[in-house]
Amino acid sequence: MKRTILVTGGAGFIGSNFVQLLLRERPAWQVVNLDALTYAGNLENLSAVEANPAYAFVHGDICEAADVARAFAACRGPVAVVHFAAESHVDRSIESGLPFVRANVLGTQVLLDESRARQVERFVHVSTDEVYGSLGASGKFSEETPLAPNSPYSASKTASDLLVRAAFHTHGFPGIITRCSNNYGPYQFPEKLIPLMIANASEDRELPVYGDGQNVRDWLYVEDHCEALLAVLERGRAGEVYNVGGDNEYPNLSIVRLILSTLGKPETLIRFVKDRPGHDRRYAIDASKIRRELGWEPRFRFELALPRTIQWYQAHAVWLQRVRSGAYREYYARQYAR
Ligand code: NAD
Ligand code: DAU
Repeated sequence: MKRTILVTGGAGFIGSNFVQLLLRERPAWQVVNLDALTYAGNLENLSAVEANPAYAFVHGDICEAADVARAFAACRGPVAVVHFAAESHVDRSIESGLPFVRANVLGTQVLLDESRARQVERFVHVSTDEVYGSLGASGKFSEETPLAPNSPYSASKTASDLLVRAAFHTHGFPGIITRCSNNYGPYQFPEKLIPLMIANASEDRELPVYGDGQNVRDWLYVEDHCEALLAVLERGRAGEVYNVGGDNEYPNLSIVRLILSTLGKPETLIRFVKDRPGHDRRYAIDASKIRRELGWEPRFRFELALPRTIQWYQAHAVWLQRVRSGAYREYYARQYAR
């Protein structure tokens, strides 16, 4: 019997990479992508697979039970859910927290309820290391680190984590939580640090660095994250939490300098700007559990994968230009007007 993976948020950055990985690595499976196509959803990310008979797109909102039911109706055979759909950008959550509570908290509960009614085989909840809060100069987040989110984004993701945990404890629901560090790679929306800096530097525009530029993030290539999620989907234990990260810490200023030197652009483009309110100082992930229990290892070294990412954005200048100008949304407005 065919198995279906219901992916939510598959038109976004990590979701679209994951959909492509699934169709490549598990050709016998069916993939249904439920996405509301917010500003962050872009079907052009999936143009390479849209004609694949193993793939189906359902335009809908995880906050609407009827939309989720439509997505389940498109699934065949046993179903597992991989849940990416979320509002994902910290700066936007500082402007307004409500869309984050709606999508990340309400949306996750609606999806959990529908998934339980449908008796899904498993439910992988794609969370974030930001639920742990901020680190000082030393130490790493383990799965036992207390949750201490600092932004409306991370607080809403923490709430959704806890709803998945509660579904497991209360109903024996087969939920699994992953908490990954910062991703980079193809199809990332150019509001996030790496694609924004590549795009601005390419156009000789200023590169806004928050505060002193010494905040540290632990970077992982998106394909490594997607492979970790596949390992969790296939071999993870229900009710467990798995951290995902690549032991790859860099201060933001170093990343910005690397991008400039790779592109042959001057450091005079760097502009230090007002810091992000509540800006977490450092993230670092202890991923020993997923390495030990599921045999997952990151494959992409930052020294090679960052230049490869920069080349991808250069080779996809039209994709980038259509996102930056907003042109990608006109297509949906016609095709998916509701
Ligand atoms: P993204 O913003 O690029 O994509 C989010 C997708 O979800 C979009 O396609 C959007 O249209 C869709 N979406 C939003 N609200 C929806 C709703 N109500 N119903 C249906 N679809 C909806 O996000 P991303 O960076 O790909 O992150 C995906 C997930 O991974 C998020 O849950 C995020 O918290 C988590 N995560 C991201 C990172 C990272 O570095 N980007 C790291 C760890 C975890
Ligand atoms: O850690 C995982 C998280 O990583 C995910 O859960 C989030 O969805 C994802 O957006 C990301 O959050 P960050 O806030 O770490 O990512 P962002 O790319 O927004 O910022 C990375 C760092 O760069 C952060 O310290 C803020 C800084 N920054 C960001 C932007 C956009 C700048 O200095 N200038 C900028 O213009």
